[in-house]
Amino acid sequence: MQSDRPHDPPATPRATQTPKYVAPPPIRYGEMARRAPDGDIDFDTLLPGEGPRELEIGFGRGRFLIERARSAPGSRILGIEIKAKWGHLVEERRKREGLTHVVALSGDARQILPRLRPHAGLARVFLHFPDPWWKKKHGKRRVLDDDFLREVARLLAPGGELFMQTDVEDRGIEMRDRIVSYEVEGKPAFALEGGFEIANPYGARSNREARADEDHLPVYRVLAKRA
Ligand SMILES: C[S@@+](CC[C@H](N)C(=O)[O-])C[C@H]1O[C@@H](n2cnc3c(N)ncnc32)[C@H](O)[C@@H]1O
Repeated sequence: MQSDRPHDPPATPRATQTPKYVAPPPIRYGEMARRAPDGDIDFDTLLPGEGPRELEIGFGRGRFLIERARSAPGSRILGIEIKAKWGHLVEERRKREGLTHVVALSGDARQILPRLRPHAGLARVFLHFPDPWWKKKHGKRRVLDDDFLREVARLLAPGGELFMQTDVEDRGIEMRDRIVSYEVEGKPAFALEGGFEIANPYGARSNREARADEDHLPVYRVLAKRA
């Protein structure tokens, strides 16, 4: 309706209904994430080339995986992360950044490692801040157990490195002791290099590691070589 008064704005029709909020469709990371192939998994098919083969278990938000890819352009680096969201986002990021010598797979390392080939072919295995649950009742969720060490011992080349770090001292002690006492054919499978205080020699830090550094928290590191 037109107002009689000269300075009034023209009348606007009143909204009859408040628009309903429509939630965006859920992001199905589980369907989008890159999965390991079925059956045996050939490292060289995933990452062809000649460079040293490296493996990171549980890369989370992927800081180490990406930084390591930049600091070791000659290496071929495979990451495995159980959370599909992070697996997918990190795989997308490495593609955006043109990093063709790294692949981020989504899946449970406990199911993927036994299918990985070749035997005795990895130069390095990284495990940064695994298992934040250190209570006894959480034992069955642990990544670093004897099944894991059996696969790492099978996959690492002689002299290959297993690098593990944590900010929970008890977990560090437990994991170090487990690594040192693990045997293959009656002989120690790993030889320790230095103590907890060693520096991270890989030119890359994980998200949890960077946070620990910012908070001035101690980090307990274990570097062991395949005997
Ligand atoms: C405490 S977070 C540390 C993340 C990252 N490594 C860091 O240092 O910032 C542990 C990571 O391991 C992953 N993880 C746990 N169990 C796993 C498994 N069986 N296979 C692959 N990843 C696993 C978790 O989803 C999580 O991202």
